[in-house]
Amino acid sequence: MRFTGLVAACVGALVAAAASVTTPASHFHLAGDYILGGLFSLHAEAVGRPQLSPAQEVPICKKYNLKVVSYSYLQAMRYAVEEINKASALLPGVRLGYEMVDVCYLTNTIHPILYFLSNNRSLLDIETNYTQYRPRVVAVIGPDSSQAAVTAAFLLSQFLVPQITYSATTEFLGNPKVFPVAFRTIPSAEQQIAVMLQLLQHFKWNWFIVLSSDDDYGQQNLQLLRAQATRGCIAFQETIPVQGKDPHDSGNSTEEWISSIVTKISRSTAKVVIILSLELPLPTFFREVIRQEMTDIVWIAAEAWSIDPTTHGVANISSVGTIFGVAVEEVPVPGMDDFRVRGPSHPGEGGEGQAASGAATCNQECDDCLAEACSYDKSLRGTGDRINFNVYSAVYVVAHALHQLLRCSATRCDRREIYPWELLKEMHKVNFTLLRTMINFDQKGDPPNGFEVIQWQWNVPGQPFKKIASYNSLQGRLDVNEKIITWHTANNTAPQSICSEQCEAGHKKKLIGMLTCCFECVQYSFTCQECPLDMWSEPGKEECFMKQLLYIHWGDAISIILVSLSTLGLLATLWTLALFTRHSATPVVKSAGGRLCFLMIASLAAGFCSALFFVGRPTELVCFGRQTVFSLCFTTCIACITVRSFQIICVFKMAAQLPRAYDAWRKYNGQRVFVAVVLVIKVFIVALNIYFNKPAPFRTRVSDHPAILILMCNQDYRATTVFNNAFDMSLCFLCFCFAYMGKALPKSYNEAKYITLCMTGYFGSWVALFLVMSIFEGFVVIIFEAATVLSNLFSICVGYFGPKCYILFFHPERNTTAFFQDAIQSYTMRQE
Ligand SMILES: *[C@@H]1O[C@H](CO)[C@@H](O)[C@H](O)[C@H]1NC(C)=O
Ligand SMILES: *[C@@H]1O[C@H](CO)[C@@H](O)[C@H](O)[C@H]1NC(C)=O
Ligand SMILES: *[C@@H]1O[C@H](CO)[C@@H](O)[C@H](O)[C@H]1NC(C)=O
Ligand SMILES: *[C@@H]1O[C@H](CO)[C@@H](O)[C@H](O)[C@H]1NC(C)=O
Ligand SMILES: *[C@@H]1O[C@H](CO)[C@@H](O)[C@H](O)[C@H]1NC(C)=O
Ligand SMILES: *[C@@H]1O[C@H](CO)[C@@H](O)[C@H](O)[C@H]1NC(C)=O
Repeated sequence: MRFTGLVAACVGALVAAAASVTTPASHFHLAGDYILGGLFSLHAEAVGRPQLSPAQEVPICKKYNLKVVSYSYLQAMRYAVEEINKASALLPGVRLGYEMVDVCYLTNTIHPILYFLSNNRSLLDIETNYTQYRPRVVAVIGPDSSQAAVTAAFLLSQFLVPQITYSATTEFLGNPKVFPVAFRTIPSAEQQIAVMLQLLQHFKWNWFIVLSSDDDYGQQNLQLLRAQATRGCIAFQETIPVQGKDPHDSGNSTEEWISSIVTKISRSTAKVVIILSLELPLPTFFREVIRQEMTDIVWIAAEAWSIDPTTHGVANISSVGTIFGVAVEEVPVPGMDDFRVRGPSHPGEGGEGQAASGAATCNQECDDCLAEACSYDKSLRGTGDRINFNVYSAVYVVAHALHQLLRCSATRCDRREIYPWELLKEMHKVNFTLLRTMINFDQKGDPPNGFEVIQWQWNVPGQPFKKIASYNSLQGRLDVNEKIITWHTANNTAPQSICSEQCEAGHKKKLIGMLTCCFECVQYSFTCQECPLDMWSEPGKEECFMKQLLYIHWGDAISIILVSLSTLGLLATLWTLALFTRHSATPVVKSAGGRLCFLMIASLAAGFCSALFFVGRPTELVCFGRQTVFSLCFTTCIACITVRSFQIICVFKMAAQLPRAYDAWRKYNGQRVFVAVVLVIKVFIVALNIYFNKPAPFRTRVSDHPAILILMCNQDYRATTVFNNAFDMSLCFLCFCFAYMGKALPKSYNEAKYITLCMTGYFGSWVALFLVMSIFEGFVVIIFEAATVLSNLFSICVGYFGPKCYILFFHPERNTTAFFQDAIQSYTMRQE
C-alpha cells in the first residue's frame, strides 16, 4: 500500500520537475528574513582536479555522477527550515530562507562561498572593517568533505560567518584559533579511530591491514590511526586510488593498481581490513574483491562510506565477508523519509523556486536528484537518519542561536538586521534537546553525540545496517552486542587476525622484525633471571619455589644409624678403658703402649663423639668440629700406633745395632716426644686448613635435583679433606713400614698383622672417600664422610685394641711376664 503511494508521490514529483523546466522551481532557494547557506555534494567524482579548460569557467557539477545521499542531506536541511518556519514556537514571526549550492565534492568549493559572502547585490566590497558588513547568508551549513570544509572555513573565518559542518571529521576544524567559526554536528575523526581500535581490541585482532584513499581524508585518518594504534600492528598499508578518469594517465591503470592491492590482501595472514576512504573508489574496489573471490575478510568501514548505498548495492558484495562500519548514531527524524521524495513545488510553500535574494548562482540545479532518490528510496530509508540528523540539527542550532539573538518570546521576535558575528557568539552558547538528543558544542566546536558500529546485512529487507555496538565517548568504552553479529565464516564465529599466537607460560617473545605483534615463542633459557640460590624453578616455569634444604636431620634413618654406631664405638672404647685400667700393670697393656694407650682411648672416645657433628643442621661451630676434632683424634691414634711399632723394632733391633741411639730414645722418652711433635705439626696443619678453607655452612646445588639444596660445611671440602689427610697418610705409611719391618717379631708382640690390617682399612676407606668425592657430590659425600670417620675409628678400635682385649679377657694366662719371656727367648733362638 505504502509503496504504491510512494511511487505515486515520486511520479508526481517527476512530473512537477519536468514542468519546472519552464518555471524554474528549485530545491535550492527559499526566500526569508535570514538566509542560511547550504553546501552539498550532489555530484561527485574523483579528487577535485583543476579544470584545465581554455576558458576559465565555474565547474559544472551536473557533469559528474550523482550522489544520492547528499540529496538526502539537502532535503534534511530543507525539511528543518520548513519545520521551523511552520512551528511558531522557536522563531515566531520570522522566516528562515536558504541558498544551497552543489559543491560537487571539492571541485566547486570557492565559488559558492564567495556567493554567500557577497551582499544582496552580489558585491563583496574591499573594506578594512567588516563589522557592519552583511553578507548574503547569516550562517553556512556544510560542506560535507573535510577538505572542502577546511577551505570554506578559511574564508568564512575572515568574515566571522558561522559554519556548521555535518560530516567533516577532520581534526583541523577543531582548532578555534584558526577557525573561530567552525562547528560540527559530527564527532571528530579522532573518535572514529578510537571506535575502530576499540572494535579491534574487543575481538583481539591485533594484526590488520589499512587501506586509505589517496586524498586528505584517507591520509589524515591514517595518520591518526598510526598515532593511536599502540596495541595492534598494521600488517601493511596501501593507498586506494580515488578514481579519476584522466585519459592522459599513462600505463598503470587504476584497475591494475586496485587489483594488485586485492591480491596482496588475499595473500596476507591478516583477516581484518580497515578502509579509511571516501565512498568514491569503493564500488570498483569491491567489484575486484568479488572477482578475486575473497570471502573471509572482516572489513571495517570508515564513517565516510559506512552507510554508502552505492557500495552496499554492489552486486554480490554480501560474499566478501563481514562488513562493519563506524557510523554516526541514528536519530530518526519523523517525516523525513517522506519529505525526501517530495517535489520542490508544494502547495503552501510560498516563495519556493525563486532565488532567495538577487540572482541565483551556478550549480543550483539537479534534474535527476529526485528520481534517483526515489529509486534509492528503500536503501535510504534503511540507512536511517544519521547524517540527515546532523544536517537537520545544524539548522536547529542556527535557529536556536537566532532565537537568543532576537530575544524571541513565545509569540514574537525582535526582528532586526543582524550581523553574522553576533550570531556566532550565540552559537557557542546553544544547548538544547532535539529529538531526545542533546545538542551543544565543546570548546573545539564538537558535539557530544558519538558514533556507533553497524554491520552490513542484505537478508533483512529495508534494513541494510544493524547496530552492533555503541560507543560512549565520555568513558571511551565500546559496548559490543556480540550475539547479534553474523559472521560470514564457516562456523559463524569471529575469525582470528593475529600475527603470532600468544606465547605459553614459560615462553618469551622474540620479535620478528620491527612489529610487536609478530614474534616467535622461545623457552626461557639461562638468559632469563635466575632464581635465588635457595629457590628453584622448573624449566619453562616463571615462578621460583623454595628448595628443600638437605642435611642429615636428627631422626632420619641415617642419623639413627650414625648415632647408634658412634654410641656403640664409644661404649666399646669405654669398655676397653675399663679393661685396660684394671690390667694396667700387665704385660699386654704395657706392650700396647702403657700410658699412650690411654691417650689413644681418650682420642677414640672423642673421635666417636665427633661423629655426631655430622648429624643436625650445620652451624659454624659444628663445621669447625667436623673439620678438626676427628682429624686430631685420628692423628693422635696413628701417631701412637706408629711410635709403638717403632718402639718394638727399637727394642729388638735398634737396641742391638744402635745402642746409643736406643739409649737416647729411652732417656728422652722418645715416644712422648714423637707423639707431641706429631700433634704439634697436626695442630698447625689443621689451623692452616681452617685459615685457608674456612669451615662455614654453605648451600650447594645438585645438578640433577633442581629442587634440592644441600647444606654442607665447606665449599672446598675436597681440598680440605686432602689437606687434612696428607699428613695422616704419611704417618700411616711410616707405620706401615714399621709394621712390615716388625712382622717377624715374637708373636705376642707381633701387632704387625693387625696394624697392617688397620692401615689397609684406613687406606681403603680414604681411597673410597676420594673416589666418591670425585664422582658424586653433595649428600652422598656427607654420608660417606661420616661413614669413613666411623670406619676408621672402628678399625683402630678393633684392629689395635681388639686383639689385646681378647687376650685380656679370654686368655689371661698369656698375659704374664713368663709368657712374654718365653716368646722373646724363642724369638732370639730363631734369630741365631
Ligand atoms: C539589499 O539589502 C538592503 C538592506 O541591507 C536593502 O535595502 C536592499 O533593498 C536589498 N536589495 C535587494 C536587491 O534586495
Ligand atoms: C570597525 O567598525 C565598528 C563599527 O563601525 C567600530 O566599532 C570598530 O571600532 C571598527 N574597528 C576598527 C579597528 O576600526
Ligand atoms: C601503479 O602505480 C602506483 C604509484 O602510482 C604504484 O604504487 C603501484 O604499485 C602501481 N601498480 C602497478 C600494478 O603497476
Ligand atoms: C553473483 O553471484 C552469482 C552466483 O554466485 C553469479 O551467477 C553472478 O554472476 C554474480 N554476479 C556478479 C555481478 O558477479
Ligand atoms: C546543557 O544543558 C543541560 C541541562 O539542560 C546541562 O545538563 C548541560 O550541562 C548543558 N551543557 C552545556 C555544555 O552547557
Ligand atoms: C571456526 O573455524 C575456524 C577456521 O575456519 C577455526 O579456526 C575455529 O577454531 C573454528 N571455531 C569453532 C568454534 O569451531
